[in-house]
Amino acid sequence: MQLPAAVIVEVVQGEGGVIPADLDRLRGLRRITEQAGVALIVDEIQSGFARTGKMFAFEHAGIIPDVVVLSKAIGGSLPLAVVVYRDWLDTWLPGAHAGTFRGNQMAMAAGSAVMRYLVENDVCAHAAAMGERLSEHLKILQRDFPQLGDIRGRGLMLGVELVDPSGAPDVQGHPPAFGCLAPLVQRECLKRGLILELGGRHGAVVRFLPPLVITAAEIDQVAEIFSRALAAATASL
Ligand SMILES: Cc1ncc(COP(=O)(O)O)c(C=O)c1O
Repeated sequence: MQLPAAVIVEVVQGEGGVIPADLDRLRGLRRITEQAGVALIVDEIQSGFARTGKMFAFEHAGIIPDVVVLSKAIGGSLPLAVVVYRDWLDTWLPGAHAGTFRGNQMAMAAGSAVMRYLVENDVCAHAAAMGERLSEHLKILQRDFPQLGDIRGRGLMLGVELVDPSGAPDVQGHPPAFGCLAPLVQRECLKRGLILELGGRHGAVVRFLPPLVITAAEIDQVAEIFSRALAAATASL
C-alpha cells in the first residue's frame, strides 16, 4: 500500500469556522502517523504563538508534530514565515533553499523580539485568561440573543456561530446557520469601532481574534459593542 507523504491539520481550524480538533483524536492521529512513519504537519499559522493560551495549539493535546508551519504573529506584522521540522526531514543541502527575499533580517529581528516578549510577559496565560473572560461574556449574551449558537475556540481564537432560531433544525436538533445575519453584525460592529472576521459554513461564524495584549477592560468593551451591534442587526432584519 502506498502511504501518504504527510498528514496536515489545523489544530484549531480558522477560516473553517473556529473548530478546535478533539484532543483525543489528535493524539490518535499522532499515534497512527508515528506508527506508519508518515509525517504529521501541524499548521499553526493562525493558532501559533500564544493565540490559544499555549505557545502552540498542539500543546493542548500533548503531542509533538514532525513539522510545524508558522507565520502571521511571529513577524509582529513584518513578513516572516517559519517551517520547523525534525532532523530526519532535513534533507536539503546547505544553501539549497536560498532565494531573493529569504531570511529577511529585519523580520527575523522582529520575530526574535516577539518570541522574547511572549515568554517574558507570559502572554500565553494572559491570552487564556482574556479568552475565558470573552467566552463568559458571550455565554451571558446567549441568554438575550437566541441567534448566538455554538461558542467555541481556545484562548483568544474564539468564534460564535450565528443561527436562525426560527429555522428548521437539522438532524441533530441544531438550528440552521444564519449566514445573512453575520455581515449585518459585522457592519454594525465596524460602525462602533470593532473589527470582526467571518468564517465557517455560510460565513455564519463571527470570529474574535483580538491582539494578544488586549486588556480586561478592552474585552469588556468588545462584549459591549458586540451586544449593541447584535441588537441593531437583529432589529434591522
Ligand atoms: C491556517 C493557514 N494556513 C496557511 C496560510 C498561508 O499562510 P502564508 O500566507 O503565510 O503562506 C494561512 C493564511 O492565511 C492560514 O490562515
